[in-house]
Amino acid sequence: MRFTASGRRLGMSAALAAILLGGFAMAWAQEPAPKPAHAPFVLNPNNNEALVGYYNLPDPLKTLDGNPVTSVKAWEDVRRPEILNLFAENQFGRTPANGPPVRAEAWEKAVPALDGKARRTQVRLHVGEGDNARVIRVLVYTPADARGPVPVVQFLNFTPNVLMVEDSGIEEGMVWTGRDGEARVRKPGREGRRFGPPFDPNVFLKKGIGVAMVYYGDIDPDFAGGTEDGVRALFGTEDAKRTGADWGTIGGWSWGMSRVLDYLETDPNVDGKRVAITGVSRLGKTVLWTAAQDRRFAVVMPIVSGEGGAALSRRDYGETIADLMHPDRYPYWFAPNYAKWGDKVDRFPVDSHMLLSLIAPRPLLLVVGSTDTWSDWRGEYLAARAAEPVYALYGKRGLNAPVEPATGKLTGETIAFFKHEGGHGVFPPDYEAMGTFMQKHFGLAR
Ligand code: GCU
Repeated sequence: MRFTASGRRLGMSAALAAILLGGFAMAWAQEPAPKPAHAPFVLNPNNNEALVGYYNLPDPLKTLDGNPVTSVKAWEDVRRPEILNLFAENQFGRTPANGPPVRAEAWEKAVPALDGKARRTQVRLHVGEGDNARVIRVLVYTPADARGPVPVVQFLNFTPNVLMVEDSGIEEGMVWTGRDGEARVRKPGREGRRFGPPFDPNVFLKKGIGVAMVYYGDIDPDFAGGTEDGVRALFGTEDAKRTGADWGTIGGWSWGMSRVLDYLETDPNVDGKRVAITGVSRLGKTVLWTAAQDRRFAVVMPIVSGEGGAALSRRDYGETIADLMHPDRYPYWFAPNYAKWGDKVDRFPVDSHMLLSLIAPRPLLLVVGSTDTWSDWRGEYLAARAAEPVYALYGKRGLNAPVEPATGKLTGETIAFFKHEGGHGVFPPDYEAMGTFMQKHFGLAR
């Protein structure tokens, strides 16, 4: 039913078409949708609430043996590990335990930057050894007037650091260029393209929060077969040979984000116990998987993470697992096992509310777009509601919003929701909401 051959893109907005067709497509890339170089995808998303139908979500508070979970201890000792394991097995793949050595080279330390408003630190994380080593470049800004270590928001970006912020002191690094169906080439960073306008770190700095930026292509290239140039190759992963619960690119990006946090924990200007994590879209999915596995991330803020992220899979609206795992699209992001659930989502052993429950009791902010039907913001809202019982075990109020949050209003408590006016991407009000959320939960008065 999902893959009918006709009528699938009729009436679709240019933005949605861009999201469906473009490997890197973001709605704010204001260009016509790129033409796919291969057979067109056959996608048929439901955008009609009346056709969503009924579904039953698995109970996050019942163990595989059928026992109810009524204490934090039972959750942490039994149910949480079960759910984490189910996500590794059925969606993201397993993160191998023994990674290559990582050496942090902080080659620039807290120099004045951004017209005196910031201190800039730049770090190369050397992953692996010798000719094979990969380099993950980390760019850190902390407020110039900070009197001690500050909380930081750690970004995973589509854009190389050098294009992300207007600052001539940023190391150029490298970028992967090309789109789906084209050859991928590694070029100097400035030859890449930026998604959206330049990012102004002052949005966070003025609130007493530092920012750390990482380009995702430094960790693992974002295309099928790109594995050999990324960090997972150093674990022996070969894309073409992946089976079952072998990890995909999202797993690789997550591993890299944890290594960046390893560094931030050692940076004297950063409070390693107050590091938040964020990323947009596929990188929002990555944010959730990273924070599920790595409980050091203290605040979690995925942006338009959609299907495979915070949106419920069982709710048949917008993108589906089958869409993600279509051979021409994004199976390389996930474990091969994930494809099994495309035509039997009712039997998928988990759903996104359980991914959110793995974040508990940490503050979680879901940023969504009011017109982003592909990512199904309502499916994210409903997942947040369904994760609340796990937050309640810890005595935390989750979203605590029995009606759908209004557009443009930061809503909720330990789980919060911010729906920007507009589509798939990140916009200035999102950064304001994220900064406010961090201030609240990190106790920053400004
Ligand atoms: C595609 C994909 C989404 C993903 C998005 C992105 O649209 O279908 O699941 O979130 O790309 O990462 O921009």
